[in-house]
Amino acid sequence: MSRATGVDVITGEGLAETLTGAEVIIDVASWHSSDQEAATEFFRTSARNLMEVGQQAGVARIVAASIIGVDNATAGFVAAKKVHEELLLSGPLPVRILRAAQFHEFVGQILDWQQGDVAYVPALPTQLVACRTVAEELVDLATDPGTPAPGTPIPEIAGPRKETMAEAAQLLGARRGIKVVGVDGAGIPDAEIALDGGFLPSPHAKLAGPTFQEWLDTQP
Ligand SMILES: NC(=O)c1ccc[n+]([C@@H]2O[C@H](COP(=O)([O-])OP(=O)(O)OC[C@H]3O[C@@H](n4cnc5c(N)ncnc54)[C@H](OP(=O)(O)O)[C@@H]3O)[C@@H](O)[C@H]2O)c1
Repeated sequence: MSRATGVDVITGEGLAETLTGAEVIIDVASWHSSDQEAATEFFRTSARNLMEVGQQAGVARIVAASIIGVDNATAGFVAAKKVHEELLLSGPLPVRILRAAQFHEFVGQILDWQQGDVAYVPALPTQLVACRTVAEELVDLATDPGTPAPGTPIPEIAGPRKETMAEAAQLLGARRGIKVVGVDGAGIPDAEIALDGGFLPSPHAKLAGPTFQEWLDTQP
């Protein structure tokens, strides 16, 4: 479901028709900017609509993508995802959340947002993971009929190694002919928390490849 296929989780257009006969919703719809208020409003509305229309359509449960470290976030997009999680978990349909690290694909978006031959990227730690790896894990959750035992931590998925966003961007920048300069996180929400590792995977996280470099080597 996406607006490109005629389904809008915010206005509800096409939602009931599409969900008829569906057993599980995998919610990866997302807001396109880091503005906390707008993102919160998006996730509030999408969670309500997916719950209401999903229940009416006979959907059994929802699986949703979230972000590692949401509990530590105080601002920005990640704080909006915390609200998203809370709303989904308040039901009525059963919900399983998967928290992911930043995607390999996100590095390209950061470069796209800047113009010219030089890009400034924060040297904040991350443990990048391939979007495909996250998608496969979401499908595994969606097709697992079990219910986690009480107290089980929310599952996390991250890539195999810690690096900084600037280091990954330098690898991509070299391919695009862009010079990437690592900068501190000034102006970025919760940069101090990120610097302290607040958005890195927990000990229980599943770590899965490819590494950023391996992934990059497969890109056209
Ligand atoms: N990107 C990351 O590094 C990262 C890291 C961890 C977790 N996550 C989570 O993973 C999920 C996906 O993130 P992403 O970065 O892959 O997002 P994305 O590239 O921005 O894709 C968002 C998708 O949502 C759809 N969408 C947007 N508005 C919609 C609407 N009103 N109704 C229906 N569909 C709508 C878009 O398609 P249309 O435009 O056609 O509607 C698009 O397919 C999100 O929950 C995000 O928080 C992302």
